[in-house]
Amino acid sequence: MDQNAKKQAVAKAAIDYVEQDSIVGVGTGSTVNFFIEELGKIKHKIEGAVSSSEASTEKLKALGIEVFELNDVSNLSVYIDGADEVTEHKHMIKGGGAALTREKIVAGVAKTFVCIVDDSKRVPVLGNFPLPVEVIPMARSFVARELVKLGGDPEYRQGVVTDNGNVILDVHNLDILNPRELEQAINNIPGVVTNGIFALRGADIVLSATDEGVKTFK
Ligand code: 5RP
Repeated sequence: MDQNAKKQAVAKAAIDYVEQDSIVGVGTGSTVNFFIEELGKIKHKIEGAVSSSEASTEKLKALGIEVFELNDVSNLSVYIDGADEVTEHKHMIKGGGAALTREKIVAGVAKTFVCIVDDSKRVPVLGNFPLPVEVIPMARSFVARELVKLGGDPEYRQGVVTDNGNVILDVHNLDILNPRELEQAINNIPGVVTNGIFALRGADIVLSATDEGVKTFK
C-alpha cells in the first residue's frame, strides 16, 4: 500500500470517533486533508468543526462544513490530527505544516485527541524530524541562540509566516529523551510561542495505517 492509500485508510478509520451532532476539532496536513474529505461525506451528522489552520478552514468550508470560532465553543469531544513523529507513549512532534500553535490550543480543549498517521511516523524516540518552534519575529536570533544552548541546531524556515504572523525555527539534532521536560524548557524561552513537542498533552489514541490494516494504540 502506498503512503497516500495509508493516509486515506487511517482518515476513514478516524470517522468512527466522530460523535453524532458534535463539533469536531480538525487538525492540519495531508493526512487530515483525507479526513476532511471523509467528514464531508457525513456532514449532515455533525454540527460543524473547529479548525487548527486557515488551510483546513478553507477545505472544510469548501465542503459546506460550518467552521466555528474556538472562543464560541466550550468543549470538543474529539480532535483529529496527524503528526510528524509519534512514540509508543503517544508523544508527538508536530508542526511540519507550521500549524503547531493552533493545533496545540485546539488539542488542549478536546476531551480525546486521536492522532492519525501512516506507520512511517511511528518512532522509538522523538527528534529525527527537526522540531518546529514558532517564534515572535523579533526574537528569532535570540531564541536560536538559546536553542543551541539546549543542544539543538536551529534552522530558520525561510519564507514561512504562520497563521499567527510568526516565524518557524526547525531544530535539528535533538535527541528528545525527556519530551515533557524539553517541551516545557523550550516554551520558557522568551519569544517562543510554542514548540512542536506534544507530550504534556499527548494523544489519547493513535491510529496507524499499515500494510495489514489500521492499528489502534490506546
Ligand atoms: C501540521 C502538522 C501535521 O499534523 C504534520 O505535519 C503531519 O502532516 P502530514 O499528515 O502532512 O504528514 O503538525 O502543522
